[in-house]
Amino acid sequence: STLDMEVEQINKGSYEHYMQKEIYEQPESLTTTMRGRLIRGGSCKAKSVLLGGLKDHLKTIRRSRRIVFIGCGTSYNAALASRPFLEELSGNIFQLLTGLPVTMEIASDLLDRRGPIYREDTAVFVSQSGETADTLRALEYALENRALCVGITNTVGSAIARNTHCGVHINAGCEIGVASTKAYTSQIVVMAMLALAIGDDTISSRTRRDAIIDGLYDLPNKVREVLKLDQEMKDLAKLLIAEQSLLVFGRGYNYATALEGALKVKEVSLMHSEGILAGEMKHGPLALVDENLPIVVIATHDVCFSKQQSVIQQLHARKGRLIVICSQGDSALVCTGGSCRVVEVPQVEDCLQPVINIIPLQLLAYHLTVLRGHNVDQPRNLAKSVTTE
Ligand code: G6P
Repeated sequence: STLDMEVEQINKGSYEHYMQKEIYEQPESLTTTMRGRLIRGGSCKAKSVLLGGLKDHLKTIRRSRRIVFIGCGTSYNAALASRPFLEELSGNIFQLLTGLPVTMEIASDLLDRRGPIYREDTAVFVSQSGETADTLRALEYALENRALCVGITNTVGSAIARNTHCGVHINAGCEIGVASTKAYTSQIVVMAMLALAIGDDTISSRTRRDAIIDGLYDLPNKVREVLKLDQEMKDLAKLLIAEQSLLVFGRGYNYATALEGALKVKEVSLMHSEGILAGEMKHGPLALVDENLPIVVIATHDVCFSKQQSVIQQLHARKGRLIVICSQGDSALVCTGGSCRVVEVPQVEDCLQPVINIIPLQLLAYHLTVLRGHNVDQPRNLAKSVTTE
């Protein structure tokens, strides 16, 4: 009805679509996700995090044999983005200061295999809606197997929030666009805080922990900065409008960014897109490379940087059509041996970089969709919440 349409326009404010609004809301949604949870300490007090919904269970989590993350779609990708720092920071006294094993399960696959979940496991259920059928069934399965079940959801009172033993609310605010954007970045931030809460604050980890906490405080500003790439991503979308396919290469902290970037592009713009682990390039994907197929390579500054530089060189050698996402000031370092289009993003603490790097890809997916004339907020055949198996 016209009334519904008017209400919708009011909700969208000055934005044309919910997806666009939600991409732009990220400095604020990240701020609300962190509100009251980061403690900066006084002159001699350590920086730390406080997750109220977990504090009575932290001991059990630390004593568990492993942490297994379970989710679908974007929520699974958020868990995957968090795995490296969860592995790094989860070391504690019970584990004799080595990290807890962290494994990943796509909910449907865990159910198909009836994969191992044990009483000594901590099973973390990641879900924006808190209602996804497969994730909920996996939760029932983990409860039957008597694992400690933790929920990370964006919906207070949702089935997953209610049925887990404890959890953390994402607090990203209501997300309406079918393609998840602000919930993704907030999920990563929740898991960074979770890793800090689980890990012991030892002298050896202090510098790193402080850097991550400072990085979290500054993240909304950095997100504001990266959002300025909007026009640049729109121009890129114009160039790619008629393409059949787009590959996205990432590794390490940004393997998940490649998967999530490709998921955004395919689900809203209806262009085929595939996220590729750069370390697997020679095991198949390289056969696709020619002068026509556009390839996004994520090569921001971290421990994998030199490996990504060599990937870029090898793609250049095959005349690959490259779009490289790199850290500010690194253009000359990534674009040797061939021509490529470079997108520079602000650099943050390496484990938080996925929050920054996904944003140009969200913007690209958004503009591609609008330019191609498809429905951004309700892509064909998809639903915001998949409540059937
Ligand atoms: C659907 C949505 C995705 C979402 C996925 C998992 O596919 O379109 O945006 O990532 O479900 O949803 P959840 O609510 O469990 O995070």
